[in-house]
Amino acid sequence: MLKLGGSLITEKDRPETLDDDALAAACDAVADALADGAVDRLVVVHGGGSFGHRRASEHGVSTSEGTRDPAAVAEVHGAMKTLNGAVLDRLRDRDVPAVPVHPLSLSARPEGVEGDLDLPLGSTATLLGEGFVPVLHGDGVATAGEGVTVVSGDELVVELASGLGARRVGVCSTVPGVLDDDGDVIPAIDSFEAVADALGASDATDVSGGMAAKVRELLALDAPAYVFGADGLSPFLRGEDAGTRVD
Ligand code: IPE
Repeated sequence: MLKLGGSLITEKDRPETLDDDALAAACDAVADALADGAVDRLVVVHGGGSFGHRRASEHGVSTSEGTRDPAAVAEVHGAMKTLNGAVLDRLRDRDVPAVPVHPLSLSARPEGVEGDLDLPLGSTATLLGEGFVPVLHGDGVATAGEGVTVVSGDELVVELASGLGARRVGVCSTVPGVLDDDGDVIPAIDSFEAVADALGASDATDVSGGMAAKVRELLALDAPAYVFGADGLSPFLRGEDAGTRVD
C-alpha cells in the first residue's frame, strides 16, 4: 500500500498545479519496482494537494464538516478526478496497469465522524487479484448527518491496509520522515504521546490534519508503516527501511 502525498505530486501553494518532476519520479520508482518483481501487488492512494484541499476549504468541507451543496461536491470531486487522471496517465505511460477507484462513488461514513468508513474493499481487492494496480484518492464521501465530508488519503490507506491485509504501508511526501523539534528524522515511532509535541500542523491548507493525524492513523495499523520523502520511495518499494518506521 503506497500513499503519494498531495504535497509531493502537486505544487501545494499554487492552485491545481502538478509537480510534474516529482510525480514522474514517483511513477518511475513504482514502474521499476513492479517491472523487476520487487513488488507484485500494489494499491496506490494519492492525496489532494492543491487540487482537493483548496476546493474543500473554499466550501468549508473537511473530514468532519460536510456540505449539502451539490456544486461544492462536484468541485471537490472534479478536482480530485483531474489529479487522479494525471497520476493514472503517468503510471500507464510506464506500463503500470493502473485503474481508478473513486471513493465518492463507493464509500460512506456512517456516523459523520472520522475513522468509521465503509470502503470499496471488494472492488479494490478484485482489481488487485486481476493484476491491476488500483489507484484511489482522497475524495468527498457520503456521510450520514453531514451530507458529503472529505475522506483523506491517509484514512483510505489505513482502512484499506487493514481490510486487504497489506504487508507494508508507505506514506511518501515532501519531508524525509517524521521530524523531531530539531528537524531530524525520528527513526521509529511506537506511541503517539512520545512524539505529540514535535508534530505541528501542516503550513499549507490541509483540511485533514497534517502529520499528527497521519501518525495517529498509521499507529492503528497492524502492518509496519513508513513515512518518507521522495528519496525513500525506491528503498520502501524494495522492502528496505525508509524514513520513519511507525509500528
Ligand atoms: C485530501 O486528501 C483530499 C481532499 C481534500 C478532497 P489528503 O488529506 O490525503 O491529501 P494530502 O496528501 O494531505 O494533500
